[in-house]
Amino acid sequence: MGGLRIAVLKERAAGETRVAATPETVKKFIALGASFAVESGAGEGASISDQDYRDAGAQVLSADEAVAGAEIILGVQAPDVAALSGAKSGAWVAATFDPFGHKDRVDAYARAGLEALSMEFMPRITRAQSMDVLSSQSNLSGYKAVLAAADQYGRAFPMMMTAAGTVSAARAFIMGVGVAGLQAIATARRLGAQVSATDVRSATKEQIMSLGAKPIFVETVEGIEGEGAGGYATEMSEEYQKAQADLVSAHIARQDIVITTALIPGRAAPRLITDAQIATMRPGSVIFDLAVAQGGNVEGSKPDEIVVRHGVTIMGYSNTPAHMAADTSALFSRNLFNFLSAFWDKEAGRPVLDEEIGDAVRLTRGGEIVNERLKA
Ligand code: NAI
Repeated sequence: MGGLRIAVLKERAAGETRVAATPETVKKFIALGASFAVESGAGEGASISDQDYRDAGAQVLSADEAVAGAEIILGVQAPDVAALSGAKSGAWVAATFDPFGHKDRVDAYARAGLEALSMEFMPRITRAQSMDVLSSQSNLSGYKAVLAAADQYGRAFPMMMTAAGTVSAARAFIMGVGVAGLQAIATARRLGAQVSATDVRSATKEQIMSLGAKPIFVETVEGIEGEGAGGYATEMSEEYQKAQADLVSAHIARQDIVITTALIPGRAAPRLITDAQIATMRPGSVIFDLAVAQGGNVEGSKPDEIVVRHGVTIMGYSNTPAHMAADTSALFSRNLFNFLSAFWDKEAGRPVLDEEIGDAVRLTRGGEIVNERLKA
């Protein structure tokens, strides 16, 4: 088996159940002319056996053997540099790096002469949509948040008419209507809840309505688009934040389920719900904070803990996609394949990145940090 050597290791981070390649993507990489090595047990958390990888054409080896001579290493969360000492000099590592949160790791990659390709920095352009791990993972996270909240909730979501009387529909409020929020709206609707939603980006209003939910928006502060570079949210003015807090306070007191998803790239998650607002909610209500690992949208939320405040359950996972590892791994792996295969150079027998995407995702190269967003 010749060709460019690609390796996948078992994820080492606590609670990380995903894997960065599936038998499907292994086969596709091999069809491009690569050879593939997988660490034994890498797929366990995603219900993929060593034999499944072997059947797809991969070698299943120890971590050190898998990495030995590898030119590309794929990861969900970037591996420790120490695990990569046997890789080829200048090897590429395509994974999530959390570059703002883990500057030390980026430094270590630079020192090791590795080329770190950070999948979170994939530009939000049409041709990169199929390569975007933030989208694919957020989508399933939005779904899971609603299911987890529904499971905690001591009542039903849909209205039910039974011989013993009627059960009224739950009211669900989705805060932050990006990829995760849209899926949360759709999921809560499918379960039969009455759904409303809000965002700072006014463009989301129509999307909310098209999913059959009610938009809750600040209309009193003028000139707000709320949208900055790459379609991401910007930080809002104090005036807007105050108007939003008043609007949300009145609305939240009548909600049974709240799902918060608000993020601003490179910053701590914005605080959307205070303890005083929670106190106005009906006991038994459930809040799922999808941003809990980024500092949290909800006062008092704690990663992987169920907190009860004023009779309201507040929850959130440190790693929501890891709770659905088979599907999230399949999508993550396809994102990586779509990325590398789009740049495959047949003559070179390896991918050759272009400037627009390559420069956006590349953090380190030739011993240095080369990414503009990290140098700024
Ligand atoms: P995100 O995960 O960064 O944030 C989630 C949502 O929270 C966003 O909609 C944001 O506007 C909202 N938010 C931020 N601060 C808020 C606040 N104070 N109150 C209420 N909401 C707040 O966003 P995500 O899901 O990554 O998507 C952002 C946009 O990028 C969307 O329009 C999406 O369609 C677009 N996108 C484009 C892609 C492409 O063209 N390749 C790929 C993925 C997303």
